[in-house]
Amino acid sequence: GLPEFVTVKEVGPRDGLQNEAEQIPTEIKVEWMNLLSEAGYSSIEFSSFVHPKWIPQLKDAKQVAQQMTRNPNITYAALVPNRKGLEAALEADIDEVAVFMSASETHNLKNINKTIEDTFPVLKEVIEEAKHHNKRVRGYVSTVFGCPYEGEVRISQVLQVCQQLIDMGVDEISLGDTIGVADPLQVEQFLKTIEGKMDFSRLAMHFHNTHGMALANTLVSLKLGITIFDSSLGGLGGCPYAKGASGNLATDDLVHMLHKMGIQTGIHETKLKEAALFIQQAIQKELPSHQMQIYNRM
Ligand code: HMG
Ligand code: MG
Repeated sequence: GLPEFVTVKEVGPRDGLQNEAEQIPTEIKVEWMNLLSEAGYSSIEFSSFVHPKWIPQLKDAKQVAQQMTRNPNITYAALVPNRKGLEAALEADIDEVAVFMSASETHNLKNINKTIEDTFPVLKEVIEEAKHHNKRVRGYVSTVFGCPYEGEVRISQVLQVCQQLIDMGVDEISLGDTIGVADPLQVEQFLKTIEGKMDFSRLAMHFHNTHGMALANTLVSLKLGITIFDSSLGGLGGCPYAKGASGNLATDDLVHMLHKMGIQTGIHETKLKEAALFIQQAIQKELPSHQMQIYNRM
């Protein structure tokens, strides 16, 4: 059966904006975060504490953290790749540290400049230190359903990476379809294979919508017991020029589908629209979600 409630985690301010070519002014990000913070989310990933040369779009993570108005009901999360990132994240007093790595060797190397083997000790230290400071820790695993460099990724390899992250103490795992290549049958087969080997109540799905299959993949996941989904408002982040970077599943489309099916999210659709219109105006280009396409043509 289907769940009564689904947790929708907003990642647009991080995953969406990291793929926007243009630099968005800090005050616009702060204003957007303040709008998002009124929409009923329980979790928003607002930025990344990564190297500014790698992701210049998010180099103002600390300023955003300090200037946004925090809603006490919301967990404010950010990506943290290493100890240096953690120090900055702790100074900014974020609620949740999101560590990240890939299930495929080449993507891991290109994304964080380390082999998978060399990544574990770095993340172990970050997780221990974050826990020591009473922070929640989320662990992202990328390229779960396919790698832009290696193609197919074995489920056993994904499981191995997840298990190590769990052993190191992450509270939740988010499985990334980084380049949006998963199809519903693949997702079904994948989840049936890992069922019983992983705790589905601490498992999130992170679909990108490159081929328009993210909602279908979500429905399959829902039916198999997944209740946490990552999404980006308006489908922000689609970038046709960067290989492997495509927009996330759109929050507004996801929430609309869930509500239409009678599944609660705690999120207010009118507030979502307000926040989507705001960021659409700021990036000066139409957001790709179905909800926004309908709105823009009205
Ligand atoms: P590196 O160059 O190997 O780092 O980068 P290093 O440890 O060798 O240090 C080199 C220099 O960087 C040093 O400075 C460090 O201080 C500095 P120098 O002494 O030369 O002046 N440095 C930093 N500066 C600021 N913040 C830091 C930091 N760390 C080192 N945290 C590193 C390694 C991981 C830092 C780099 O590769 C990086 O920043 N990568 C970020 C990649 C990224 O953000 N990718 C996108 C997010 S992942 C994603 O989108 C997937 C996801 O959505 C799920 C899915 O869809 O699958 C999550
Ligand atoms: Mg992503």
